[in-house]
Amino acid sequence: MTAHEIEEYLAPMRHEYADTRSLILPALRHAQEEAGWLPPGAMAAVAEATGFSQAYVESIATFYDRLYVAPVGRRVINVCVTLSCMLRGSDEVFAHLADYLGLDGEGTTDDGMFTLAKVQCLGACDRAPCLQVDAGQQLGPLEPADATCLVDDLREQDAPARYDR
Ligand code: FES
Repeated sequence: MTAHEIEEYLAPMRHEYADTRSLILPALRHAQEEAGWLPPGAMAAVAEATGFSQAYVESIATFYDRLYVAPVGRRVINVCVTLSCMLRGSDEVFAHLADYLGLDGEGTTDDGMFTLAKVQCLGACDRAPCLQVDAGQQLGPLEPADATCLVDDLREQDAPARYDR
């Protein structure tokens, strides 16, 4: 994605933001849609489009759980491990998922289908323990067995890839 394409995407929202700095996040989200993650070239394009340094843009990209600075699987499962979820069993949900996916903790499956990650509060504490698939809704409360059923469902879905690699 080029800086020009990002500028075009941002143009309609420029008047909504008093501070240009606030455009960096939507620009990064938009840039991520192309490859499913943010390669250095995408962050350079965001920097050029917004007028900030690439280092500053990268500092924002690395702060947020759901901006990816390395390749991820076609489906990303984010398990909340913050207090409410942790107290209600998110560690067990995560461990069960990791085991089911053949992962030793966070990571991406060999077939590139799934990335499993621990994230901070998803804003759905009343549904603890919960997780989120891709940028979809939060799912919970979950038992470990529910989580593995979810993996089976995701595998069976004829879900188009968010991107092709
Ligand atoms: Fe898990 Fe808030 S603590 S969603």
